[in-house]
Amino acid sequence: MFEDSNICNLLKKAGIFLKLKGISEPKSDTEVLLSFVLQIKRSKLFLIGSHKPTDKQTLQYEEYILRRSNREPAAYITGFSGFMGFEFKVNKNVLIPRPETEILVENVLNLPEKENRNSVLDLCTGSGCIAVSLAKLGRFKNITASDISSSALETAKENAKINNIATIDFVESNIFNKINNKAFDIIAVNPPYVSYEEYNNLEPELKYEPKIALKAKDNGLFFYKEIAVKAGKYLKNNGYITVELNANKCNLIKQIFLENGYKNIEIINDYANLPRILKAKNG
Ligand SMILES: C[S@@+](CC[C@H](N)C(=O)[O-])C[C@H]1O[C@@H](n2cnc3c(N)ncnc32)[C@H](O)[C@@H]1O
Repeated sequence: MFEDSNICNLLKKAGIFLKLKGISEPKSDTEVLLSFVLQIKRSKLFLIGSHKPTDKQTLQYEEYILRRSNREPAAYITGFSGFMGFEFKVNKNVLIPRPETEILVENVLNLPEKENRNSVLDLCTGSGCIAVSLAKLGRFKNITASDISSSALETAKENAKINNIATIDFVESNIFNKINNKAFDIIAVNPPYVSYEEYNNLEPELKYEPKIALKAKDNGLFFYKEIAVKAGKYLKNNGYITVELNANKCNLIKQIFLENGYKNIEIINDYANLPRILKAKNG
């Protein structure tokens, strides 16, 4: 398909092919996949645009572009994704970290210093992106990361290792049922929040991600309700909870936290100006 092409032409041909297959913004994918094949930084591609990859590299690139044309996310093809400037291993057992979730991490890091520097629980850790980023960028003494999925936890542990973090306590737990520390300063959580109806209408890319990371019963509200009811018992007085929101259900979720006695509830918008993070104090 792409034989005898230099880097510039490979990117161009792959971009046209993916566009024809319905990928609306293929530029970043074509570059990520080619730099992965060539094992060079993405920014270097254009410095060596006239270089012709080997036949083996071109065939490998073709295979990756075909997989992407079948709507497999580029991060699952390369096995890596960036988050908060760090690299995370991803696979079919973990959600690909999203830029919106970086806002949650930034909000935890920006909490008032005297109140937030001891312990944090990253519930529903998945790839470990929240816990590992907090360990890299914050000054917490204790970080716990939990998930119901043992295979997600394995990936989270690998990501801690890749990022030179040895201090996170990983716990396999169904929401709070195996969490022993009852006095965290902060709970940070990006729970599954896609209703069964919403799931059916998701882009094909999301069907490659683990259902357990996305779907939530009770019209997508199950985890918000469980967390709002139980988190108070695991937080210090005046401890904070920060939760990623399903933007379509912001008011309902806010109401759930209000009814459960949380105070100072704040909603933070994302880059698309959609409500994305709920921040509240334990009442
Ligand atoms: C939306 S993903 C978030 C992953 C990661 N924190 C992130 O922000 O990219 C939700 C995670 O919750 C986990 N999960 C699903 N049901 C759970 C439960 N009952 N108890 C604990 N974790 C659960 C899934 O395995 C998944 O890793």
